[in-house]
Amino acid sequence: MSTPSLPVCFEASPVQVTLPVGVHAWCSCGLSADGTFCDGSHKGTTLRPQIMKITDHPETCHLCRCKRTNTAPFCDGSHTNL
Ligand code: FES
Repeated sequence: MSTPSLPVCFEASPVQVTLPVGVHAWCSCGLSADGTFCDGSHKGTTLRPQIMKITDHPETCHLCRCKRTNTAPFCDGSHTNL
């Protein structure tokens, strides 16, 4: 069995989410079950989640799921080049 090239493109489109106040871990590897939030599936790779701290009030944003963004964890439109 071959190892997939990392990070894996989970989906060539972002997902809009409203993040509540708190700490969230964006999946940078593309291996998590929902392709958005870290579930520990990166274990055994060199990739790690990116921690997002939301303070004051919930924030609505578009999170990258293709894992090619240059503005992680946010979508920068890089999925249009895939
Ligand atoms: S599962 Fe992808 S960074 Fe943790």
